[in-house]
Amino acid sequence: MGLSTRQDTFLLAFTLLCTLMGLGCSLTCEVCNGPEKTCSGKMRQCEDGKDTCAIIVSESYEKGPYVSTVKACMKSRDCHSGYVSTTMGPNNYMVTNTHCCQRDGCNRGSVPPPQYNRTVNGLSCPSCVVPFRDTCVTTELVQCVGQETHCIYLAGRAKTGIISAKFATRGCATESACHTKAGAEVPSASYYYFLNRADCHEASLPYGRAE
Ligand SMILES: *[C@@H]1O[C@H](CO)[C@@H](O)[C@H](O)[C@H]1NC(C)=O
Repeated sequence: MGLSTRQDTFLLAFTLLCTLMGLGCSLTCEVCNGPEKTCSGKMRQCEDGKDTCAIIVSESYEKGPYVSTVKACMKSRDCHSGYVSTTMGPNNYMVTNTHCCQRDGCNRGSVPPPQYNRTVNGLSCPSCVVPFRDTCVTTELVQCVGQETHCIYLAGRAKTGIISAKFATRGCATESACHTKAGAEVPSASYYYFLNRADCHEASLPYGRAE
């Protein structure tokens, strides 16, 4: 991804050396975020335990569709390559395309913005978005769209700078969202999420339409 073969060879040799000699050299990733389809920033050494470089391109809906990109170090257990779609309300969704890789500088370059499909698919999920609390009790339902066949319940803390606030949210999601587990640390362009709850189950037909 935009790396010359020479750089590639060098990085590979360096990584092998670190591994073979048990030097425990830490991974280096590009780190940036911004309101565009890609971003570029400095190469930084990852903290201990963060063994994966990630690119996450998101489109979310606030006052209109909003695209953003974050590049960061992550733990491999928290990084899942591919497409995730979540819908919390009729005008509240987020779709992401994630690329995870494990070599120095491998998250330079970019990934395509997520494709999404907003056609309702007949399924529905309990829905809510609650800032400043980590539980979300609801009787509302949201219509799932496209490939969203599961319901998720995410809660935890969202950090930005020195500010950290609880949040909880429920809605529809693609099955790929179920890879996210409690304990995950997930960066985004505006917040760093620390999840203490990540439940996922199959969506059902809307009330009144079930046979
Ligand atoms: C969009 O989602 C709907 C509902 O799941 C599905 O029927 C349709 O084929 C999808 N369209 C595309 C282009 O994937």
